[in-house]
Amino acid sequence: MPHNPDSIEERRCALQIELDGHKTQAERNKLGQFATPTQLARDVLAYGLALLPESMPVCFLDPAIGTGSFYSALMSASTGRPVQSAVGFEIDPHYGVPSKALWEGTPLKITLADFTRQAPPADAAQRANLLICNPPYVRHHHLKGEEKVRLQAAAREISHMALSGLSGFYCYFIALAHGWMTDSGVAGWLIPSEFMDVNYGQALKAYLLREVTLLHIHRFDPNDVQFDDALVSSAVVWFRKEKPPVCHQVRFSYGGTMQQPAISKSVSVLDLERAAKWTRFPRQDAQAEHDGYRLGDLFAIKRGLATGDNRFFILDEDKARSLKLPAKFLRPILPSTRYIKADEIDTDGAGMPLLEKRLFLIDCDRPEAEIARDEPALWAYLQTGLEQVSLGYLCRSRKIWYAQERRAAAPIVCTYIGRSDHDGRPFRFLLNNSKATATNVYLMLYPQPLLAKQLERDPAALRSLWQALNAIGRETLLGNGRVYGSGMHKLEPKELANVPADELAALAGLDVKHTPRQLEML
Ligand SMILES: C[S@@+](CC[C@H](N)C(=O)[O-])C[C@H]1O[C@@H](n2cnc3c(N)ncnc32)[C@H](O)[C@@H]1O
Repeated sequence: MPHNPDSIEERRCALQIELDGHKTQAERNKLGQFATPTQLARDVLAYGLALLPESMPVCFLDPAIGTGSFYSALMSASTGRPVQSAVGFEIDPHYGVPSKALWEGTPLKITLADFTRQAPPADAAQRANLLICNPPYVRHHHLKGEEKVRLQAAAREISHMALSGLSGFYCYFIALAHGWMTDSGVAGWLIPSEFMDVNYGQALKAYLLREVTLLHIHRFDPNDVQFDDALVSSAVVWFRKEKPPVCHQVRFSYGGTMQQPAISKSVSVLDLERAAKWTRFPRQDAQAEHDGYRLGDLFAIKRGLATGDNRFFILDEDKARSLKLPAKFLRPILPSTRYIKADEIDTDGAGMPLLEKRLFLIDCDRPEAEIARDEPALWAYLQTGLEQVSLGYLCRSRKIWYAQERRAAAPIVCTYIGRSDHDGRPFRFLLNNSKATATNVYLMLYPQPLLAKQLERDPAALRSLWQALNAIGRETLLGNGRVYGSGMHKLEPKELANVPADELAALAGLDVKHTPRQLEML
């Protein structure tokens, strides 16, 4: 009986919602019952299908089928393409029985059983050339001791994966599914990306590098709204069941969609063998092994001030004058970068930045009683903030609600959020000759004692350092920062501190930094 893929997908989604609704979150956690959203399932399926030769009939397998999101995607993607067989397993009758009924009359054969207890088909003709799966994500704490022993032995036998007892359940799924795939069949696994970095992931990574040909790992951007919580740090891992060719390169991508990722990079299997953590790909990779100086060795990097309410605490010159606020409580503060055209901020004799927009921060940590007594103008202004501003989260958590944190003017500030498509420079380093402090749209770079000493001897070196900072490759900075959708970049203080800085150290006349090993040898 022919089926309309869209209408059956609608029915499947309705069924999924209904079935999920009968379970508590805790029950669903136990068996990792979180369905794949339709669009994601379709993207994944289409990608996998394209990895198979066009004329090859599809033998599909989903060992954790649920209501069949991937099979449904196959129905909508495979128009005109022969589907020779389709097999699914589901342990929980709550999902399995209605799912079987939904797909009755289609090529999909669902078996209600624990996939990990099934013997792989001895006959190669029964195996799958397209395995797509969002396996149950169940942490090892929920697996009983004897269960782990059984799974570990089976994994070792079927795919030579020596999984540690700390492995998530999904690792066993991948290991055991090996026996269900045809030679050169393709697998796409939607799994948590933590295996890329943690110890228990070693065995899975060894399998991906040595037993099969790892094709592509795409990690989703957690800020992407299309995913619910269960999928936030997910990756799709693609491989072909055949030994890798020599000098094989693997594609790593991040953000956007699998077909159109925000960033992407080829990484050699050799580099992957050496790298302890894989989530640093596709961003800059050489840095993780860097033993020399990092920016954090040269500068203490702090986020600018969170005032509690910029509109209340930051005033322009006219407003400050009309309110008759005393100058001693007004500190110059930088406006947003929109108002700063040049990368160098000049100053007048009093330390005020020479900018068209001249702003002041109300900066007073004197107790209220003193202000009430001695500073009538400031007192009157503060009263206007009592009802709202003083009750804001930040202000009410301060001892004195209007007292700002100490943030001296920094000689170099960095704008840490920007769009790379603006002028190709997502970050700008500004040389701040003024005494203006800055808000948290900036990162503030204060020379560390080591560098401060050098600068005392050679003040001109600061300018060279600033120029060198602006010359740091975009890739290097982006390798450390996050990329948001729509080309937005953000750099946290820690991430900027992590950027290698040997050249900058040399500019400042600092000696080569010795690694602990070199020091030992010396
Ligand atoms: C993350 S859900 C994925 C469901 C569906 N394939 C999808 O992508 O929407 C995992 C499914 O595997 C089932 N499952 C859990 N343990 C299983 C096992 N040992 N064997 C077979 N299915 C299992 C769960 O009941 C759940 O329906």
